[in-house]
Amino acid sequence: MRKKVIAGNWKMNMLPNETINFIDEFSKLVKNSENEIILCVPFIDLFYALLHVQGTNIKIGAQNMHWEEKGAFTGEVSGNMLKSIGVEYVIIGHSERRAYFGETDEIVNKKIKSALKYGLKPIVCIGETLEQREDGKAVEIIKAQIQFALKDLDKKMMDDVIIAYEPIWAIGTGKTATSEDANNTIKAIREEISKIYGQNVAQRVIIQYGGSVKSTNSHELFSMSDIDGGLVGGASLNAEEFSKIANYK
Ligand code: PGA
Repeated sequence: MRKKVIAGNWKMNMLPNETINFIDEFSKLVKNSENEIILCVPFIDLFYALLHVQGTNIKIGAQNMHWEEKGAFTGEVSGNMLKSIGVEYVIIGHSERRAYFGETDEIVNKKIKSALKYGLKPIVCIGETLEQREDGKAVEIIKAQIQFALKDLDKKMMDDVIIAYEPIWAIGTGKTATSEDANNTIKAIREEISKIYGQNVAQRVIIQYGGSVKSTNSHELFSMSDIDGGLVGGASLNAEEFSKIANYK
């Protein structure tokens, strides 16, 4: 039985004092949850978040990293740096990074390999645009993204990889894929993983859904056979709202 993994993606929101207040409130609300709960916070909030989740069931992730360990890369943060302060997860290849910061499949693959090298668990984002979906190419695009993203990763490494299927047209738009649609696409992702790594890996790998997840639709989405939780943007900024999603039973 796969665990539900529910991650908040705060994007470029929340100051350190807001982070601390959020965690104080949120940690009380989710203390009995049996799901894996992760908050992916901006770089400047990481240290505060890590201190304040001590003794709780909340894990902390970053939203990006550079693939090199160190060097002349002004403004960048490496996986090694994240690991050194106790970060456990990192979002890689979010569609906003692909669209606004030129992240290619090749860069995504380098970052995933580097994250794993430094002992971080990558949450790898894939998903199709509205145009690709309307052209009937969604599954084809997603399979190609999977093949590129996971290039050169071995079976063992797959134990630490989480996939987040986020149809781009559903992110921040209030439009959600129907639970059947999302489940079917996630099944197709699992099939592709099965072709590369075999059935065992495919049945173990956590695949989340993301894109306008809210407390009003999360239960239906997470109860589908192949959806193992969610990557939640807007709705993760409010402790009460996010706790309703994170407390899924
Ligand atoms: P949203 O964002 O929940 O606000 O649609 C999801 C994401 O971008 O990860």
